[in-house]
Amino acid sequence: MAAPSDFKPIIVGFLCNWCCYGGADLCGVSRFQYPPYLRVIRLMCSGRVDLEFIFRAFAKKADGVFIGGCHLGDCHYNPEGNYDALGNSMVAKRILENVGVNPDRLRLEWVSAGEGIRFAEIMNEFGAKIKALGLFGYSEGRDVADLQDGLEAATQMVPYIKLVERERFRVPKRTEDGYREFFAREDYNVLFKDLVLDKLAMSRIMGALRQGLASTEEVAQKLGLEPAEVARHMHLLSQQGVVKIDGSHVRAAIAA
Ligand code: FES
Repeated sequence: MAAPSDFKPIIVGFLCNWCCYGGADLCGVSRFQYPPYLRVIRLMCSGRVDLEFIFRAFAKKADGVFIGGCHLGDCHYNPEGNYDALGNSMVAKRILENVGVNPDRLRLEWVSAGEGIRFAEIMNEFGAKIKALGLFGYSEGRDVADLQDGLEAATQMVPYIKLVERERFRVPKRTEDGYREFFAREDYNVLFKDLVLDKLAMSRIMGALRQGLASTEEVAQKLGLEPAEVARHMHLLSQQGVVKIDGSHVRAAIAA
């Protein structure tokens, strides 16, 4: 694995056409310098950045993902597409952390079309951050294939996560502070674990079992979870008849 100083990061940048892309353009025209790590994908609004885009970018071994939108209140659609981007980035960070990817690899910023210098400053800072974190999987200390499996499981769950977000995670105050307060709330965290993270863990356990792993310890090591947590999920899965556990309660196989 390359040392952090030896590699040139790949950062996938989803930029809103109306503001951040304009800021990046102005940055280039003005010849402000920033490292050439960014691969730009231009979208009409930061709210278009689906959770799936983020997980897929990392699954394809992007070292960082950047989302750039209009300042809050300036979104051209809805007019609150960038609040959706804010909520998505908070949900994505939590899921990335859960599957073992350092959430600092994802960054969301608001940049107007007149803020070329700000765009350069952010890219310099984020580029340095990702370079310090190293190649995807480096700071995580995890096997890249295992991280990709976790991201694939998260991607499969995106339609379900969107449904849960719509039905159970409505942010009452459409302000930046309102979002931060909501996502820090204890009741939200309990519900998020119950409705999303536990289901994701079970899905990942099923994936590990399909790959032939059979003991709680093996599965826990592959997924980066505590053995006790894996055992708890295996027990629930066996109650649902999805897996079989032998008499010693340490081995499991996919039910016929
Ligand atoms: Fe730029 Fe929505 S149009 S964030």
